[in-house]
Amino acid sequence: MSAAQPGIFALGTASHAYLEFDGLPGVAGGDLVTTIASLREPRTTMGGVNLVAGFRPELWREVRPGDAPTSLAGFDADVTGPDGFSMPATQHDAVLWISGSAYDVVFDVGRAAIAALAGLATVGAETSSWPYRHDLDLTGFEDGTENPSLPDAPEIVLIPAGEPGAGGTILLLQKWEHDAVAWESQAVEEQERVIGRTKAGSVELQERPEDSHVARTDQEDFGDIFRRNMPYGTITDHGTMFVGFCARQQPLAAMLDSMAGRTTGVRDALTHFTNPLSGAYYFVPSAEALTNAGATS
Ligand code: HEM
Repeated sequence: MSAAQPGIFALGTASHAYLEFDGLPGVAGGDLVTTIASLREPRTTMGGVNLVAGFRPELWREVRPGDAPTSLAGFDADVTGPDGFSMPATQHDAVLWISGSAYDVVFDVGRAAIAALAGLATVGAETSSWPYRHDLDLTGFEDGTENPSLPDAPEIVLIPAGEPGAGGTILLLQKWEHDAVAWESQAVEEQERVIGRTKAGSVELQERPEDSHVARTDQEDFGDIFRRNMPYGTITDHGTMFVGFCARQQPLAAMLDSMAGRTTGVRDALTHFTNPLSGAYYFVPSAEALTNAGATS
């Protein structure tokens, strides 16, 4: 099996940035892919940086035919529920997820990447994020309780050997702003019914409401995924960067449909307090496929 890009599983870093790039008109897709693929983590004694690179599936397939799942598609249409609630499609050509011990190293690596892509691509979206009280999201609930453990995650995340794109994975990147005032105006018991777990201890409610977030995304219904969500933003403008990986696109897409109310007509209660601002799918090739793509310059 080709090895994964290691940053996917590098837990515990204190500072993150997501840079989404758009190719400039007239630039060949191959040049963009090659340049991004040849970016490397700087080897410094100042603290490591993890760099995870992903590509719009159609762009990667155009440049590396046969090296990604054939049915994998970008986030090309809004996901709209029966009541008009909508998750916007904001697909870009490529993403770099940079994470490190502190923002200074993330900042320097991000700026160097942008400089390397000058004349090829511009930054279409930038988000910085940081862990909040170890593993809470900005609702104050633990995020990641039902995540697979690190030893189990690769089997869920990585495309199996022998399949197109082996060792690669599919990333759903979605930025959700929180309405902190509305959320905090609820009693803790009401918040718990929205999530479907207790706030202290993150225990699943015995009778979780049908519209609770964990009922709408239950992995027993949709299949397992691996989440590396992070809080983002400033004191006055913040939310959750949803960073979800899976070896298949279907579970991720089915969860979005379910949250929007497209599956059973029941919309996820969490979406009354959080608002999706972006949505994109990226193919994250294996480390080996990335190296090969970077070597074709
Ligand atoms: C504002 C955005 C979001 C927030 C704040 C959020 C937060 C949470 C929290 C607190 C939990 C319960 C603890 C846990 O198991 O991690 C949870 C569970 C989960 N969330 Fe989210 N989430 C968000 C968006 C999403 C999206 C967009 C998806 C899928 C595309 C998703 C998929 C899941 C899954 C699969 C679980 C575990 C369900 C199970 O129990 O099997 N979440 N989330």
